Amino acid sequence: MRFTVAIDGPAAAGKGTISKAVAKEFGFAHLDTGALYRAVGVKAASGMDPVEAAQTLTPADTVGEALRTLEAGQAASKVAVIPEVRAALLEFQRRFADQEGGAVLDGRDIGTVICPNADVKLFVTASAEVRAHRRWLELGGDEAEVLAQVKERDDRDMNRADAPLRPAVDAILIDTSDLSIDAAVALATAAIRAKLA
Ligand code: CDP
Repeated sequence: MRFTVAIDGPAAAGKGTISKAVAKEFGFAHLDTGALYRAVGVKAASGMDPVEAAQTLTPADTVGEALRTLEAGQAASKVAVIPEVRAALLEFQRRFADQEGGAVLDGRDIGTVICPNADVKLFVTASAEVRAHRRWLELGGDEAEVLAQVKERDDRDMNRADAPLRPAVDAILIDTSDLSIDAAVALATAAIRAKLA
């Protein structure tokens, strides 16, 4: 069986948590596509050509704590505006989506560009303040600075020419500003179960 779930949304909206939970619930494979861009961003920040970094990326490059920092997030959104970087990562993501047994991909352009025919599309969002507070709880530091970085990244992601962050027309919106993790996961699970039935 092939079944694709596309989960998009801005930074720290809850995509990762929801994706992992639904992948576990339905036994689907999960790809955090942000990790691909973070890995390319970190390599570019240390001097490598971003397009070459994307073309030569290996699975081992996409794991590790160093990818989760605020700086890695910023570096990711800077390389993510480069069309050749996005093109280099496209085929890998599509192959992942097309695997036997079902797949969940989370990112910014999964429902709009990578998997426009996904079986279920979710757009997970929350206010910038709520998202910054969550990221601050995760990473610490100065909360005002975290909020400024979240807003800067939202702005870059929504306004780039190639594959900007926006909900697909057929996406189900989940605003997690006032939702518990369990409640958000329950909404996502119900949407997938309805489609599988
Ligand atoms: O975890 P968080 O939501 O903060 O970010 P992420 O999903 O790890 O993505 C980091 C950055 O990579 C984003 O701000 C985007 O600029 C870029 N990205 C993208 O352009 N397309 C994707 N499918 C995934 C991430």
